Amino acid sequence: SASIMAVALSFGTANADPAGCDDGETVIKFSHVVADSGHPKGDAAQLLAKNINEQMEGTACMEVFPNSTLYDDDKVMEAMLLGDVQLAAPSLSKFEAYTKKLRLFDLPFLFSSIEAANAYMASEDARDLLASLEDEGYVGLGYIASGLKQFSANKPLIKPEDASGLKFRVQTSDVAVAMIEALNASAQKLAFKEVYGALQTGVVDGQENSWCNIYTQKFFEVQDGITQTNHQLLAYGVITSQEFLDSLDDETRTQFLTILTDTLKQANQQVADKEAECRQSILDANSTIRELSPEQREPWVTVMKPVWQEFEGDIGADVIEKAASYSA
Ligand code: LMR
Repeated sequence: SASIMAVALSFGTANADPAGCDDGETVIKFSHVVADSGHPKGDAAQLLAKNINEQMEGTACMEVFPNSTLYDDDKVMEAMLLGDVQLAAPSLSKFEAYTKKLRLFDLPFLFSSIEAANAYMASEDARDLLASLEDEGYVGLGYIASGLKQFSANKPLIKPEDASGLKFRVQTSDVAVAMIEALNASAQKLAFKEVYGALQTGVVDGQENSWCNIYTQKFFEVQDGITQTNHQLLAYGVITSQEFLDSLDDETRTQFLTILTDTLKQANQQVADKEAECRQSILDANSTIRELSPEQREPWVTVMKPVWQEFEGDIGADVIEKAASYSA
């Protein structure tokens, strides 16, 4: 508010806070692990901060901590319940310690495009899945799409057998582990910030991620090339704690949730374009992208898709069928 600004100015204390949080404002810290810009999540976080800082001036402010500078995705969940951070958006692959329902999103070849994934994530059914986090003290506020995943390794991957015997970094997801093992390869769960070093030193041979993660983390520099498999979705659950939401007065909470919902909608419309740009940037950096013909891609689907059955009990056959229908 104007009066708070006036007090701050009259004391002549330059505000050291990068987001310009003023005294008396509710501080919303958003911690994430990816690049601060040029990435669907990094850009969404920045846009959200801009909107909150402009529209909630005097009431609330947002500070964004990108690049695992504050917490990695394991720690951020604990920090949130301790009240040290108010907003996070871990990949849906990272919630299995809290709910097994979100395993849905890791099923290989569930979504044929970002558009199909976005359409499902905007549905009532997808909202219901986030409610499975409530028992743990979290509130799922929405989804951010990131992209479809591609494989890379220290050798060319054309046939699924090319991956046989290699070790791939995966997120903390048993679905991802099962998927890699279906390729006769081995999986190693590693935090995102450790991936580049692990690829560089040969701790792992390969990885799988979105175009923008491969580009902004420079994974392409330490891999033979990237194979365009589009085999799995990368998307995020935007979460806060019940305790934080309850601490806001009704008007503030409503304003915060409205800005958040509108911003996520806007951010999700830009994901496909951002991914295309990151893909082009990888080509511009003279890295190799191997496209697969439909005939070459088919065996990857055949090998990995049986993983669905293994996790059907956790997720629910009806839930899988509904989500899959968006790509039909
Ligand atoms: C990963 O660990 O590969 C991703 O979850 C990182 C991210 O947030 O996109």
